Amino acid sequence: MLLYIHIPFCDSKCFYCAFNSYTDRFHLKHEYMNALKIQLRNDIENYIIKDNKKIETVFIGGGTPSTIKAFEYEEIFEIIKPHLEKDAEITTEANPNSASYEWLESMNKLGVNRVSFGVQSFDTAKLKFLGRAHSSNSAITAIQNANEIGFKGINCDIIYGVQNDTLESMKKDFDMAFSLPITHLSAYSLTIEEGTKFFDRSSVKIDDEELSYEIFDYINNKGFHQYEISNFAKNKVSESKHNYGYWQHKEYLGVGAGAVGYVKNQRYYPSKGIEEYIKNPLINEREDISLDDIKTEKILLGFRSLNGVEKSLFDEKEMKKVDDLIEGDKLYMENERIFNKNFLLSDEIALYILD
Ligand SMILES: C[S@@+](CC[C@H](N)C(=O)[O-])C[C@H]1O[C@@H](n2cnc3c(N)ncnc32)[C@H](O)[C@@H]1O
Ligand code: SF4
Repeated sequence: MLLYIHIPFCDSKCFYCAFNSYTDRFHLKHEYMNALKIQLRNDIENYIIKDNKKIETVFIGGGTPSTIKAFEYEEIFEIIKPHLEKDAEITTEANPNSASYEWLESMNKLGVNRVSFGVQSFDTAKLKFLGRAHSSNSAITAIQNANEIGFKGINCDIIYGVQNDTLESMKKDFDMAFSLPITHLSAYSLTIEEGTKFFDRSSVKIDDEELSYEIFDYINNKGFHQYEISNFAKNKVSESKHNYGYWQHKEYLGVGAGAVGYVKNQRYYPSKGIEEYIKNPLINEREDISLDDIKTEKILLGFRSLNGVEKSLFDEKEMKKVDDLIEGDKLYMENERIFNKNFLLSDEIALYILD
């Protein structure tokens, strides 16, 4: 079982971001952390203890986990620790602005062994354009600090496909990232989301497939292999086991306002609003996921990543199309699993097969 914990606070709202986070509810931080503990205890009781399971990975995401003081996480870890698998991967996201040396060190002492920094770019003008509140230097310092403290995994998020991005400007960002002690790089193509400052400003996004291919090649040539459409790792052990778990369609607990859980063929959605969540952290909406939907998800996720799709999932008619795609050099088969050669075509290929 994977565990996701959501922290819905940010110091400021970036112009592209539609994640569930608030910049005006800081007075609720302590109550929110208490509410998290209630849901966490409940979910662990119902889905871990009763089913005799273990937690394989933990991911504290947001919003911005580094907006919460490290001591507020102590009890969360006390609750989780007895149920963790040995050597579990425990990641926290962090913003370069709020992830001080002390915060990183305290989180590391609590058991966090992987940190994912929202860097987006090292270029001052681009950071400003994206509405980021930190400088390039603070991102560099945060990554160096995390390395000095001894985090096993350090990820850097970079966004591309923003107005004025070119291969040359992106190379500068990646070169800077690779000059730092990172083990993982996430390169996200900008998506324009409803409800953000960038919505209705379509000129902000460059839709250039060629740029994506060039970026993938550039990162691969730097020695970081692509194991998902947006994710690159220094070596096999540096891949994010938590995210890989999603692509393998593993079950996950979703704890916190606006989190999503998936257990026993059901998705569950705790309240999105912070106040509602604090009032009742155990209320959630539930949705049955049909076997057909599970199959579609497994295929979509499998083709977006190196996980691939088990051959037995396809019926006879679909398998004919798979064989054609293997013939056409788009897919390949290994050990009874089907793999996609070009992650950018994953949706198209999945829809063609399932049509
Ligand atoms: C929850 S945030 C990371 C942690 C922290 N909140 C921060 O931004 O520093 C997760 C990542 O999603 C990516 N992201 C968010 N919205 C996006 C969008 N509209 N298009 C592309 N990437 C996006 C960013 O790279 C961001 O770092
Ligand atoms: S990108 Fe990160 S810091 Fe910016 S609004 Fe989204 S969650 Fe908050």
